[in-house]
Amino acid sequence: MRATLLRDVRTQYANPIGFHRGDVVQLGERDTEWPAFAWTTTADGNAGWAPADWLRPLGDGTAEALRDYTARELDGGAGDTVELIDELGGWWWSRAADGREGWLPANALRIEPTPKGQKLSLAAKLAGFSEHWSPRVVAEMNDVQFKLAKLSGEFVWHAHADTDEVFIVVAGTLRMRFRDREERLGAGEMIVVPRGVEHCPVADDECHVMLVEPRGVVNTGDAGGALTAANDVWA
Ligand code: NI
Repeated sequence: MRATLLRDVRTQYANPIGFHRGDVVQLGERDTEWPAFAWTTTADGNAGWAPADWLRPLGDGTAEALRDYTARELDGGAGDTVELIDELGGWWWSRAADGREGWLPANALRIEPTPKGQKLSLAAKLAGFSEHWSPRVVAEMNDVQFKLAKLSGEFVWHAHADTDEVFIVVAGTLRMRFRDREERLGAGEMIVVPRGVEHCPVADDECHVMLVEPRGVVNTGDAGGALTAANDVWA
């Protein structure tokens, strides 16, 4: 996937930490802004942020590294394009046009739509974000958008006065509640919610769906509220 930098990004750490699988490191506090990361001190005394899931605590304040890692960040200027390789806790391991590789914060990147005529992977798109009830556009056909969303828990009751809405379950189980009944959908199943009909999607465990609907549809319909997501955010 390709992305464009929305702003200048400059490395904050001149000497990024790194470790190899099997190394033992000192494990510190989790980051408050990036909770997937923990403050880590390597055997050479260097310290920095590392993915907590890649470290197995040994019980005495140390941890064993499960994978090779470098905290190297990428410098770039607004408008630069980069190739996205792996997402981790709100950061992308990225490759610049000149071949340099390093981490970039996802909030500094605008993911570029895959050009029509080129295939895209739903799994790769789903791996690129983790927020619930936050649909990401992956493709357009005429005025219709295809969006991927990760659902967890209960949404809000709402209706869309002007359009039908399609849900295709990619992974997990979706319970589509209507006022008088419920439809239970597994992976590979789909449903068309008729326009004007109140519905409330529920995912008891995390569920991944593709939504198909006209450009501009508000996810919470007539209900509004805190779960209302921005439109036209691409994955
Ligand atoms: Ni809806």
